[in-house]
Amino acid sequence: MRYSDDLIEEIRMKNDIVDVISGYVKLQRKGSSYFGLCPFHNEKSPSFSVSPGKQMYYCFGCGAGGNVFTFLMEYENFTFPEALEMLADRAGVELPKLEYSKEAKEQADLKSALLQINKEAAKFYYYQLRQKVGEQGMAYLKGRELSDETINKFGLGYSDKFSNNLYRYLKGKGYSDDLLRQSGLFNVDEKRGMYDKFWNRVIYPIMDVNNRVIGFGGRVMGDAKPKYLNSPETKIFDKSRNLYGLNMARSSRKKNLIICEGYMDVISMHQAGFNNAVASLGTALTSQQASLLKRYTDEVLIIYDSDEAGVKAALRAIPMLKTAGLSTKVINLRPYKDPDEFIKNMGKEAFQERLDHGMNSFMYELKALEGQYDMEDPQGRTDFFKETAKRLLRFEDELERSSYIKTIARTYQVEPEELRKMVNRLAMKGAGMTETVKPKSGQNRNKEKQNGYEVSQKLMLTWLTSYPEIFGEVSRYIGPDDFTRPLYHQVAELLYEQYRQGEPNPARLLNQFTDSEEQTEVAAVFNATIPLDSEQEREQALLDVICRMKEDSIAHRTEHLVPTDMQGLMQLMQAKKELEELKAGKLHLHISFR
Ligand code: CTP
Ligand code: MN
Repeated sequence: MRYSDDLIEEIRMKNDIVDVISGYVKLQRKGSSYFGLCPFHNEKSPSFSVSPGKQMYYCFGCGAGGNVFTFLMEYENFTFPEALEMLADRAGVELPKLEYSKEAKEQADLKSALLQINKEAAKFYYYQLRQKVGEQGMAYLKGRELSDETINKFGLGYSDKFSNNLYRYLKGKGYSDDLLRQSGLFNVDEKRGMYDKFWNRVIYPIMDVNNRVIGFGGRVMGDAKPKYLNSPETKIFDKSRNLYGLNMARSSRKKNLIICEGYMDVISMHQAGFNNAVASLGTALTSQQASLLKRYTDEVLIIYDSDEAGVKAALRAIPMLKTAGLSTKVINLRPYKDPDEFIKNMGKEAFQERLDHGMNSFMYELKALEGQYDMEDPQGRTDFFKETAKRLLRFEDELERSSYIKTIARTYQVEPEELRKMVNRLAMKGAGMTETVKPKSGQNRNKEKQNGYEVSQKLMLTWLTSYPEIFGEVSRYIGPDDFTRPLYHQVAELLYEQYRQGEPNPARLLNQFTDSEEQTEVAAVFNATIPLDSEQEREQALLDVICRMKEDSIAHRTEHLVPTDMQGLMQLMQAKKELEELKAGKLHLHISFR
């Protein structure tokens, strides 16, 4: 169930990277490359380069890089298939239908029919809101200070007071009762048959990240109950995997995403310019939603209602976000209830101010914990710090733990040393996690050493793609197995294979990595630099790199050698000898960079 490599490559080749990126970034030619302001980080002078030769881009400022697919994945937040589809379209290449099994095909057909129904329904509600019947709905939304622009942008609508208008409308379009039942837009009972679920409500269409309507929320215009009615889960609406507003927030280019509780909060934040706000859909945040957020950001601001329920929800969300690898801050809106109310009363500057002063999620958890102890009582205080120490043990990074200790000491007026001792004692007792307090020395040095080798391997890959003429000579000493870092090894295998077939093609090679993080890393591999002025310097550097890589690979192989592997042992001896000779200057490299 994957498109062929040749097809992917055809689509890549038909989309010149300079053309595609020029649609997003103003580029200027400088020598053999183009430069512009990097769209992935803030900068004043251009360090974002696009190479027509390599058909790759790379930012020397922030390290973003990749081929034309990566660019769209990063810039538009597309998945690989989405980027592929768009570029196929752009180049006029028709993508073949992937082979589905019969059941899979039926499911796909059902889903696309349900999507169609939702789209029709959204159009119906949208139209109603803007007609005479929709007056009351429009007045309600205007009363909540929504502008026409906002109302349109969110596709808001209205379901009128007659409870079978949508049903009749969709029947008229030829949809079967069975399909309509599965859409979740109708109730069925024996007496009345099928009738509209939503009536006399303003309607909030819920879209997935690809702007497809997957469900609806409807709000009464007044105080009747229930305040909100939502589509039930259907074949296309999984509440735990979607977030309201993410279709827009994902391309907000802000440094974080804001998660809030409700539809109106999202809408009023967007209207005030905080277009990075999303909401879970009337349910508690799920781990799937946390992972979804992680696809688009590294930091989440939690901005829940200022009531007890909101605090509880935040405390539940924090560990979930942490597990997904997100850093989290909690925003305090008091004395106001929610973002909508806050912005109406205090305006956007004050709101921004609050966003800028979010509380670190760990400190927020501690504050909630504090409420459970009598902090006036010495015993209560001690118990509180004991629990705090236990939680501090969860930080594996010593520096991180230490800086929390300092902050806590300041906030709760306790001697940092006392707290530190408590943490260490607990660690010894083996409470919390095992092995949290590690001796510093050995491990760190090892890591540094490894980094040195990684840099060598990276440089080698850059040179091998930038100067094809050195490949013949280099490959006498260095093979793919000498790249010990797994990802680099994978890249080297592919690159050496390309040389065997003809010439290197790094942009094509990148097609093999569809995960966007891997792509970025591989792109960086082809763009390593060290400042080298003269040819002589470069040749010396190359020799150094070869020696370093050999040393590392010999060490690596020695470590993994099975004692009975005679051939392996012989090869190892040979490699050692060659390395000695290279170092002693007995073997000469016949290489020049042109
Ligand atoms: N919600 C729901 N059903 C309810 C109440 C709430 O599904 N009966 C969900 C909705 O998604 C709502 C969110 O929980 O957006 C937050 O609830 P609330 O704070 O009451 O909603 P607001 O968006 O603040 O609504 P409003 O400002 O319109 O009163
Ligand atoms: Mn609210």
